[in-house]
Amino acid sequence: MDYSRKISERQWNLPDKGELESRREETYMDDIIQKDHIQRKLLEHLDGIETVFDGGAGSGRFSILLAKHGCQVTHFDISQPMIDKAKELAEAEGVSDRITFVQGALEELKDYADRSFDLVMSFDAPISYTYPNQYKVIGDLVRMAKKRIMFSVSGRLGSLPYLCNPVQKNQFFLREDDDDPFVRWCVENREKMIRSFRFDKKNAEKVMEDGLFGGQQEIDAYEAGETPWCITYTFMPDELERVLQGCGVKNIRLSGPGAYGRTIPREILVRLMSDPEQKKDFLDFCYQYDSNPYVCGMGKDNLLAIGDI
Ligand SMILES: C[S@@+](CC[C@H](N)C(=O)[O-])C[C@H]1O[C@@H](n2cnc3c(N)ncnc32)[C@H](O)[C@@H]1O
Repeated sequence: MDYSRKISERQWNLPDKGELESRREETYMDDIIQKDHIQRKLLEHLDGIETVFDGGAGSGRFSILLAKHGCQVTHFDISQPMIDKAKELAEAEGVSDRITFVQGALEELKDYADRSFDLVMSFDAPISYTYPNQYKVIGDLVRMAKKRIMFSVSGRLGSLPYLCNPVQKNQFFLREDDDDPFVRWCVENREKMIRSFRFDKKNAEKVMEDGLFGGQQEIDAYEAGETPWCITYTFMPDELERVLQGCGVKNIRLSGPGAYGRTIPREILVRLMSDPEQKKDFLDFCYQYDSNPYVCGMGKDNLLAIGDI
């Protein structure tokens, strides 16, 4: 089995994953923006959609949403803690009977027949964690779709600024006193991260060229029994468009959720998020701006693609 998959399996099966992931929109403002964008795109493209496959569906943010809109959804994920949390949330929403939960890896979709779901979707980068199988996984997801495909991957242009900003995530904490362990770690280590930072131009050029965040260091950590972050393949927008064209997908639209939001200082973002009226206007405008093809590579992490079969 590829290291990416083994690392992903260990990382996403950490026992507290489901709980932490289900709280992301209460913790991180970039997640609010990104998930709001995806939700709008989904609801705009639901015509004629009755059956849905959600690959890497996590704690059910979008599988439960579509079940609530009357779709029959297959919720597929590599992580049992994620599935357990999604089951609990689906039950609370009264839609368990419209969701089939399956534990599995995107690298193994051969048992699903061609054109078996009206819509095939996969959000917040599960495909990027399947390196070196990312193109095959996209091919399988397209093969399984009857009407539409919609997914988001890690974007290379949107991820490269991380290499020059060791405290990039701090900008998006809704509350700096949140008890989320990652928030605590970032807040406590902020000064140290800035003081010890050195820009590694060679590495930035390497990632620009090959798109890979992570590699041998993660493999060594995995072999040492640790739980490193997933090896992540980041896509260029034109590359993603070409891959989808090669699979026969038509009417491809790309967008970059988070491009507008990342330009705004934390103090202002917190004010926008704390005032319901401004929050609505702000998210409306983020959606318009981030849907412009000229910023589609610059979203915060994610690059979203929609296409018709
Ligand atoms: C950031 S979460 C996104 C969850 C959900 N799609 C959302 O947008 O809220 C990524 C999900 O991908 C799943 N995942 C990662 N690698 C996978 C793989 N190879 N096969 C299936 N699922 C995978 C993880 O378990 C996790 O639930």
